[in-house]
Amino acid sequence: MSGTINLDFDNVKDFISESDLNSIEEKIYHANNLIKEKTGPGKEYLGWLDLPFQNDDDIPKFNETVEEIRLEADVLISIGIGGSYLGARSVIEALQPNFISCGGTRPQIHYAGFNIDSGYLTDLLKLVKNKNCWVNVISKSGTTTEPGIAFRVIKSMMEKTYGKALARKRIIATTDHSRGALKQMADQEGYTTFVIPDNVGGRFSVLSPVGLLPISVAGIHAKVLLNGALDMAEKLNNNSIFDNLANLYAGIRYLLYQKGKSIELLANFSNKLMFFAEWWKQLYGESEGKDGKGIFPASVNFTADLHSLGQYIQDGRRDLFETFLIVDHIDNDVMVPDKKNNLDGLNYLAGKTFHEINIQAYKATAMAHKSGGVPNMTIHLPELNAYWLGQLIYFFEKAVAVSGYMFGINPFDQPGVEAYKQNMFRLLGKPGIKK
Ligand code: PA5
Repeated sequence: MSGTINLDFDNVKDFISESDLNSIEEKIYHANNLIKEKTGPGKEYLGWLDLPFQNDDDIPKFNETVEEIRLEADVLISIGIGGSYLGARSVIEALQPNFISCGGTRPQIHYAGFNIDSGYLTDLLKLVKNKNCWVNVISKSGTTTEPGIAFRVIKSMMEKTYGKALARKRIIATTDHSRGALKQMADQEGYTTFVIPDNVGGRFSVLSPVGLLPISVAGIHAKVLLNGALDMAEKLNNNSIFDNLANLYAGIRYLLYQKGKSIELLANFSNKLMFFAEWWKQLYGESEGKDGKGIFPASVNFTADLHSLGQYIQDGRRDLFETFLIVDHIDNDVMVPDKKNNLDGLNYLAGKTFHEINIQAYKATAMAHKSGGVPNMTIHLPELNAYWLGQLIYFFEKAVAVSGYMFGINPFDQPGVEAYKQNMFRLLGKPGIKK
């Protein structure tokens, strides 16, 4: 694969200096050592580092299952929330056509269990009626409410449609190897199961069966995604700031945060990357936001949001910085046609492609925001394909681990997400929860 992912940080140089970067060398070194030597907080959750290198015993079973679903199903309903859902959806949406009818692959992948919205579930059930359906229910704990209740409904629909015996064959469970209600149910019902390794947390699990099953069913080559991740893992295997993209990105973010830039906008100029930003937000928000610290991760879709949030970014509170995600080369470009009468005055763009114009829009935005006091950096992706996405995923995962240790927090736990759950359980009268 030619080209490389790179990080252009010219537009932060007015805000942080090279000596600022040199001053955090030791911090970066220390953070890298905590990861390498597995001695930092949350060290028992570093299994994601090795996912691209693994020669999984489950591979023949995995391939057979994917092949069977691809052969038979019109639809795969993937049920999960947070880390059990966002990774797969981000890769699938990035690599499939914008509209299913424009050559989207069969089976189509639909999602459930990531909300408690009855209207959504009702519509989904209508959509899949009379379609040949398979289900992948994904939950590491096996006890999460949202996917749990969605699965109850979808399981009933499957049993009603296919009968109990056939429904069982069409339900795949991805869960812990021994714990949780889903594991117990899967064993009792005899579902095909895939294991989420103990040492891999939800938001770091996209390169495990959690992400790889739906991704493969969507016709994306998991091996290519993993190869990208593996190549990136090898590139990031050093402690340097300037020769290690993850350290550089983590270091720049850390310094910007010290200078009061506490909100990061991941900004894409490509519709297909909207969901990738959702995955990134969970990865960074859940990993860093604790002990009163952390950069708040937000996302914007340009150029659309330049017409809504652009004003704030240019001119509002100066606590923002931006990370642009730019795809350098695209296929299927569209050219602006020449019009003799030039009624709209746009002939100056005739002969230019949308991609060329989009790139100029990005450059114009980066310049304007920098001069408005918003430092920005750009991650360049040579193309939008499985290989480069594999690299990007691993890069962001490694960078957030380094970053979390630089902030002095445990990047691998998420104690804060329990607070709303306890309240909800109390309100709903869950047995064993105090009123
Ligand atoms: O990153 C995490 O650990 C969480 O976002 C979980 O993935 C999410 O809460 C879903 O949990 P589970 O897979 O146990 O259903």
